[in-house]
Amino acid sequence: MSGRRSRTRVRNATISGVPEVPARVRAVGAFERVFGVPARVVARAPGRVNLIGEHIDYRGGSVLPMAIDRDCVAAMSPGGTARVRIIATDAPGGEARVEFDAGALAALTAAGAMAHAGVERGSWASYVLGSLWAMMRSEGGVGERAAVGLDMVISSDVPVGAGLSSSAAIEVAALRAWVEMDGGAWDPLAAAAAGRRAEHEFAGVPCGIMDQLVVAGARAGHAMLIDCDVVEGFAPVLAERVRHVPMVSNKSARVVVINTRVRHRLAEGGYADRVEMARSAAMKLGVKQLCRALMWDVPELTSAERLLTRHSITEAARVSEAVVAMERGDVRRLGELIGESGRSLVFDEGVSCEELDTVVASAMRGPGCYGARLTGAGFGGCAVAMVWPGGVGRVSERIVREFMARHGYAPEVLVTGAAAGASLV
Ligand code: GLA
Repeated sequence: MSGRRSRTRVRNATISGVPEVPARVRAVGAFERVFGVPARVVARAPGRVNLIGEHIDYRGGSVLPMAIDRDCVAAMSPGGTARVRIIATDAPGGEARVEFDAGALAALTAAGAMAHAGVERGSWASYVLGSLWAMMRSEGGVGERAAVGLDMVISSDVPVGAGLSSSAAIEVAALRAWVEMDGGAWDPLAAAAAGRRAEHEFAGVPCGIMDQLVVAGARAGHAMLIDCDVVEGFAPVLAERVRHVPMVSNKSARVVVINTRVRHRLAEGGYADRVEMARSAAMKLGVKQLCRALMWDVPELTSAERLLTRHSITEAARVSEAVVAMERGDVRRLGELIGESGRSLVFDEGVSCEELDTVVASAMRGPGCYGARLTGAGFGGCAVAMVWPGGVGRVSERIVREFMARHGYAPEVLVTGAAAGASLV
């Protein structure tokens, strides 16, 4: 999904600004147009960018993402019938609609639910359907209410397939609205778990908990340090698993996100391969989670597993150091760690691509940038850079110019603050 965006020229670099018609306005307007009444509840959930701690959330490591100021919005009302009607205003190919009977949903398997609703695996609708389904089936969930229909419109300003968690934003926005409509208490952990289950069972992506959790529970002005070292059981309260770390001040650095527009498709195998390899390496090393390993140079491991293990151990250490640097306001050290993380993702984890390498090299060439690396799962998508505020224009311009010369099209540049997690609007 992507809205039309206004463009601001910053010294010849195209920086995408606030969308002309933000998702909230699109969702609320479409709801009234389609269903003839105003939506009762409107909720938003942001995309996210991961500052450091990549490919280690599912290996028991700690990660440090933050929410970005691009939202997915869900407008919702009880339908008055037993039908669930969901409209996406920005689906590929335009407005799309899915409609099915609510009654049977909670009793179906994931595959059964998708067949029942006529929804394709991994499509926008599968994220909505999957997260509602998972929430209904969760412990203390809302299975009873499965028989109640609802009307919903989803609009999103989070770039799709860019590694900014557009799918987590859909899942969590839908859940935030649904929980409110239902009169329940908002529990970011429960929502994150339901969203992740949707990814696993409705999209075929065996992801960790990072994306859904930061999207559900981030605090404005803060990055979220998530300790993922709890195998599948979550600590009962959010506070035991996360710490909100104040972002460095806007005066010392800005977070710049560069979208290569190379769509990363996590269901295509590279991600799942790494999940599998991390599992087998952990088993061979006799640890529950790979980030608990103490060494990588072990003969039992294949050479790929050795590199993956090295990335896991060193990345976990970098995250701890990055938190200290952030708390001290030491942007230079933070930038260095981000750069090291990037090199480890290229050489050890092996998840970069040419376009990402171009962006990172341009960002780092010349003054203004403290550190840059690919962010998210890799295989395309975005890079993140910590940039001196006075250098944002120049650094962006350099990245866009060099990228165009090399690849023949312009990447998208977003400058973002650390936004709040899901909320009502
Ligand atoms: C995707 C997954 C996350 C995480 C990152 C890589 O975004 O959804 O759980 O594993 O990749 O750090």
